[in-house]
Amino acid sequence: MLFLTIRFLAGVLTTVSMAGFSPAAHSQESTESRSVQDSRKVALQVSQDLRTQLIREMQLSGPLRSLVACKYTCPEILSMQSRKTGWRVAAVSLKPRNSALGMADAWEQKVIADFDRRVAKGEKGETLEFVEIVSEPQGRYFRYAKAMMVERLCLQCHGSSDQRPDSVKAQLATDYPFDQAVDFRIGQVYGIVSIKRGV
Ligand code: HEC
Repeated sequence: MLFLTIRFLAGVLTTVSMAGFSPAAHSQESTESRSVQDSRKVALQVSQDLRTQLIREMQLSGPLRSLVACKYTCPEILSMQSRKTGWRVAAVSLKPRNSALGMADAWEQKVIADFDRRVAKGEKGETLEFVEIVSEPQGRYFRYAKAMMVERLCLQCHGSSDQRPDSVKAQLATDYPFDQAVDFRIGQVYGIVSIKRGV
């Protein structure tokens, strides 16, 4: 079943679960189940679009040109989905490159740290996702997170100093003076695709 693949932080209260629902709870359940499915679709689309874009650019023009292209197209892929859905759709990390767009908020930090722990214990990062309804002073929000994992493709721009070509290092120093998104290793959690929408 759909929800059995979703794991919740221990102790977090959430209405999204398969256990014992009454008819009244059931309609809320369906709404939330749709929210999860819609969010999952958008998160998958974003990950695929970012990856496709990077692979194509890397093959066509190498890491330096690809980096310059990503500076413009990667944020555009996210804001296009935000415009299309009306939700906040972001890609964030505990160690962001673009500190203006990629910085995780408190909820996102907690989720990424939890994903890190689960991957360290041997869970498959590719399947990690988390949903929660949160209350904030401005209202209630449905929040969805899907792990973004580091793979070989990422290393020329996010790996160790010897994995990044000199041209990439120089460009990063110019464009992202506060870059923290380096020294990642394959199989680590880079961050999450994060979706936030009002309920
Ligand atoms: C060609 C270089 C390049 C490659 C390859 C690359 N990235 Fe990035 N990445 C960037 C740049 C540049 C940015 C900053 C974009 C911006 O200005 O918003 C970035 C930003 C990000 C962000 C947004 C959050 C942040 O840190 O600002 C995520 C998430 C991300 N990268 C994940 C990945 C993952 C996962 C891979 C491998 C699948 C990867 N990247 C491969 C260059 C690259």
